[in-house]
Amino acid sequence: MSLFDVYPLFNITPVRAKDVYVYDENDNEYLDLYGGHAVISIGHSHPTYVKNISEQVAKMGFYSNSIQNPMQVDLANKLEALSGCKNYELFLCNSGAEANENALKLASFHNHKKKIVAFKNGFHGRTSAAVAATDNPKIIAPINAQQEVEILALGDLVGLEKALVKNDVCAVIVEFIQGVGGLDESTAEFYEGADVLCKKYNTCFIADEVQSGFGRTGDFFAFQKYNVSPDIISIAKGMGNGFPVGGILIHPSIKASFGLLGTTFGGNHLACAATLTVLNVLEEENLMENAKEISAYFIKKSKEIPELKKLKGRGLMLGLEFDFPIAALRKNLIYKHKIFTGSAKNPNLIRILPPLTIQKKHIDVFFEALKSELAVSSLQ
Ligand SMILES: Cc1ncc(COP(=O)(O)O)c(C=O)c1O
Repeated sequence: MSLFDVYPLFNITPVRAKDVYVYDENDNEYLDLYGGHAVISIGHSHPTYVKNISEQVAKMGFYSNSIQNPMQVDLANKLEALSGCKNYELFLCNSGAEANENALKLASFHNHKKKIVAFKNGFHGRTSAAVAATDNPKIIAPINAQQEVEILALGDLVGLEKALVKNDVCAVIVEFIQGVGGLDESTAEFYEGADVLCKKYNTCFIADEVQSGFGRTGDFFAFQKYNVSPDIISIAKGMGNGFPVGGILIHPSIKASFGLLGTTFGGNHLACAATLTVLNVLEEENLMENAKEISAYFIKKSKEIPELKKLKGRGLMLGLEFDFPIAALRKNLIYKHKIFTGSAKNPNLIRILPPLTIQKKHIDVFFEALKSELAVSSLQ
């Protein structure tokens, strides 16, 4: 049987990884500034993570959500303490799309409306309502197109009120820093205004923190830079450091009832062991502080690059925007300099999403490589 061919692949086969490095079958070392798409938070194969998951699987990897699982309770308490999101409740699932799907569904259960407002260049995943709220017609199948979604320009408060006043919008979903789209962020006026409008019109405000959450921006959540209180916060990616896990934080004004949401695998013992370890290591190793410090260093170093049009993003969720397509440059960074970086929907933008353990010396290596590549291309 061959694989369903949906991914254009780089010809590299990683077989092991350690902290910020990935190694292929010939033991070539690659610097990972991509984190497997913002997934690796506490570093590849962190010893505590390996130990805790190994011990948990030896004891019990899984049982269903019909029994008591105190690890889920510990996880909810630890998440509350570290994120500062007091009194929210937690529902666990397995991925970012699933988190957003549950968030949108829950919003609709809560206020009995069914239209979604989302934003241009947003990405929310590939399931039914989540993909319909994603601004990319190429990944929306006819079966998903039945969802009622209005896509507005990021920052369009006037358009948002026009949409909400009709009283049929169950949820407004937004990334406070757009990931896949290319690191664009709107203003405090917009995010805080959107929060106020959602409350005024009984619409759930959903913060999609799938990519930006769990300390990536230097704050636990990207929305925490603003004075907003989302009704639902969706999480995944860095939450499990590679173990597939997602979830939603739900404001206490939204009430649970038996059977309202459910999942077979969500919140299983291994997922809890992975996520609890991520939270503990984030705290013990001060990784959010590190994200801020290394981010400041990255921003300083980026000033040495005259070809750079704009540096976007926050913390260790950064984008380098040029005035030319970066595909060839990114390829050279991988094959010639052995550095993984990310691309975005914006073809001129390189994404930097490293493990939060990264150090200044790794940033130096990246900028040396970038400078040498830009020098070569300007000579051509
Ligand atoms: C902001 C955001 N939301 C949702 C998703 C979907 O997550 P997943 O691929 O785990 O379904 C992604 C994935 O890139 C994302 O960046």
